Amino acid sequence: MQSYPRVVRPPADAIGTLALIVGVIAALIFIGVEAALVYAIWRYRASRDPAGVAATFERNRRLEIAWTAAPALILAVVFVLTLGTMAEINGAGVAPAMRIAAVGHQWWWEFGYGGAKIANELHIPVDTPIDLDLTSVDVIHSFWVPELGPKMDMLPGTTNHLRLFARRAGSYDGQCAEFCGVEHAWMRIRVVVQSQVEFDRWLSAQTLPAAAQGGDGERVFLANICVNCHTIRGTTATGTAGPDLTHIGARATIGAGVLPNDVARMRAWLADPQRYKPGSLMPRVPLTDANLDALAAYLVSLK
Ligand code: CUA
Repeated sequence: MQSYPRVVRPPADAIGTLALIVGVIAALIFIGVEAALVYAIWRYRASRDPAGVAATFERNRRLEIAWTAAPALILAVVFVLTLGTMAEINGAGVAPAMRIAAVGHQWWWEFGYGGAKIANELHIPVDTPIDLDLTSVDVIHSFWVPELGPKMDMLPGTTNHLRLFARRAGSYDGQCAEFCGVEHAWMRIRVVVQSQVEFDRWLSAQTLPAAAQGGDGERVFLANICVNCHTIRGTTATGTAGPDLTHIGARATIGAGVLPNDVARMRAWLADPQRYKPGSLMPRVPLTDANLDALAAYLVSLK
């Protein structure tokens, strides 16, 4: 197992440090300006010198140079710190252990790990720098998991890169951060950070094709328009417009976060996707109750 030195920080930590430094600088400026203001009000108040004339600072060259140079210097310092932070969160000097292809769709996410394609749920190993290669097939989306790193746009026709690095195992929630249509709000991301051993086990399970079952649910799936949009590896279904369903039963939610994933919710979703995600490309497929039962049970069984 690879281990990365302590100097590699999660991008969110680097951003947090920069925000703290800029915040302290801003606070010191605020305190200084307010103190000067209060002092001037007190020191030069009219009651002290009723006949006095207002102070002027014309032709005070030293003062003018000082209040031009000081902000320029402060901004230069912030600029240099920002450049350093940007380089750090982009992973400068540290090669990623793995690249994952991330594709935005209206309104779901596709994560490609070589042979395995997963929708909406990104798994990564803990303590390991990962690079996402981000793109979109339709409109502009934005990948954002606040605890793990900055936002990054997903643009059609081009690839952006985003470094992810998590110090703690667990589940991190994110959200599309660029308005992308009616179901923009239901474009949730879940990042599952696992130990390397768990991650390897998960990935090898996801890479396997689905076991052929020959059951009713599989027959219903293959006999209907489901196959036009969805792939289940190991069957004849090879559609690519919608999420790959080879291991949909292993995912926590349906419809990029709309519903928890269990047989009852899966059946409700299949019976009327537009009720739960109006505007989504998933149509209502007319099925008998018995076929809905079988199809829901089949999909949830695809672990
Ligand atoms: Cu995708 Cu907003």
